Amino acid sequence: MIKVVHTVKEVREEVAKWRKEGLSVGFVPTMGYLHEGHQSLIKNAVKDNDRVVVSVFVNPMQFGPTEDLESYPRDLEADTKLCESTGANLVFNPQPEEMYTDGFCSFVDMNGLTKELCGKSRPIHFRGVCTVVSKLFNIVTPDRAYFGQKDAQQLAVIKRMVTDLNTPVEIIGCPIIREEDGLAKSSRNTYLSKEERQAALILSKSIFMGKKLVEDGERDSAKVIKAMTDMINTEPLAKIDYVDVVDFSTIEKTDVIKGETLVAIAVYIGKTRLIDNFIVNV
Ligand code: PAF
Repeated sequence: MIKVVHTVKEVREEVAKWRKEGLSVGFVPTMGYLHEGHQSLIKNAVKDNDRVVVSVFVNPMQFGPTEDLESYPRDLEADTKLCESTGANLVFNPQPEEMYTDGFCSFVDMNGLTKELCGKSRPIHFRGVCTVVSKLFNIVTPDRAYFGQKDAQQLAVIKRMVTDLNTPVEIIGCPIIREEDGLAKSSRNTYLSKEERQAALILSKSIFMGKKLVEDGERDSAKVIKAMTDMINTEPLAKIDYVDVVDFSTIEKTDVIKGETLVAIAVYIGKTRLIDNFIVNV
């Protein structure tokens, strides 16, 4: 049966037992309220590793002062069931005080890769992500860790971080999982009213259209951005945060689509900020 633990000490003890038996460890860091997107990460982790740890922690450090930390959906019981039925072995669900003890003042931050896209509109976000993910890597000491391509900038940032800091963890990116009608799965989709849920389809529609443009040979970033922007603007409930084209490894803007390129969008549907993207290798 799956175990749910709340302290760093308990995680270390479990992992130490597995290591003694020579078992490999996969890790899926999450903020909970798990859906099929997370489940696909866990499935990959179960396939590649002898044991799998899932962390469920809504990390206060990666939320800005006006963001949705308080309202972020939580359901540990459902999360535990999903982890168990998918084959994970351990859920780590710490309280903020366990992760950020009194006097906490050390951070992991990054100069590059975080200036564009979500880093621009959420200035403290990636410092919070890098700090918590570093801490979780130090606690779980996994062989492999799994991140969704839905948060493509986060995936690039984490890859860079483990390279720069010589963290002995292999980072594995997994494809975006979508609802049947195209909307990328996200815990934040639960914020949407019926009308907003329908309006939110404009994100995936513009992503599919942009991808087709590039697949059909368009290499001018400005043209792809304009076509996608025009399409999103046809939806009255949508307000664009960004539509951008960047090099996937550096997250720097690129005028010409070449090499591994990330086309990413963030759009408010009402008060809910949603993201989506596609990656092409030209
Ligand atoms: O992608 C997320 O859910 C979070 O940013 C992560 C990686 C679990 C860190 O809190």
